Amino acid sequence: MRKYPPVPVLNRICTKNVDLPTTNIHVPEGTSITIPVLGLHRDPSIYPDPDKFNPERFNEDVIATRHPYAYLPFGEGPRMCIGMKFAYMETKVGLVSLLSKFKFKLHSRTPVPLTFDEASILVLSAKGGIHLIIEQR
Ligand code: HEM
Repeated sequence: MRKYPPVPVLNRICTKNVDLPTTNIHVPEGTSITIPVLGLHRDPSIYPDPDKFNPERFNEDVIATRHPYAYLPFGEGPRMCIGMKFAYMETKVGLVSLLSKFKFKLHSRTPVPLTFDEASILVLSAKGGIHLIIEQR
């Protein structure tokens, strides 16, 4: 969810004129804002060595050192994803039921290293797809 956030950008419209604190940026009402979720999740000043998968980044004490909006896979605020808890639950149930019955290997048709498909604007997708070999355990 950090390295490959399915929704890589969030959109908002500014509803009130505002001067952004600690900057000299004025944002007029009506401005469209694009929040680069993927960019934040891969920013080395927030997540050192950002390409490394390291679940310990999400230990409670490490999370406490980051800005709460440094991790936005489900968005934030009043319009954040209403299905977040359900999504985590169904993903875990799906992974457990599949991994307990099948073994997964990458097929040689899967491009390595993975690159992103620029044609897919709304949802992050792997260029060339992800092809798997699935064997019964
Ligand atoms: C891994 C799975 C999912 C991801 C990564 C995801 C991500 C997101 C994101 C980023 C937003 C926009 C939030 C914002 O702008 O701040 C969103 C909105 C939304 N999501 Fe999800 N979502 C997931 C699964 C689900 C599921 C399972 C449901 C319903 C069962 C759901 C229902 C919604 C709805 C209704 C909104 C619009 C909320 C609003 O505009 O008030 N999502 N989701």
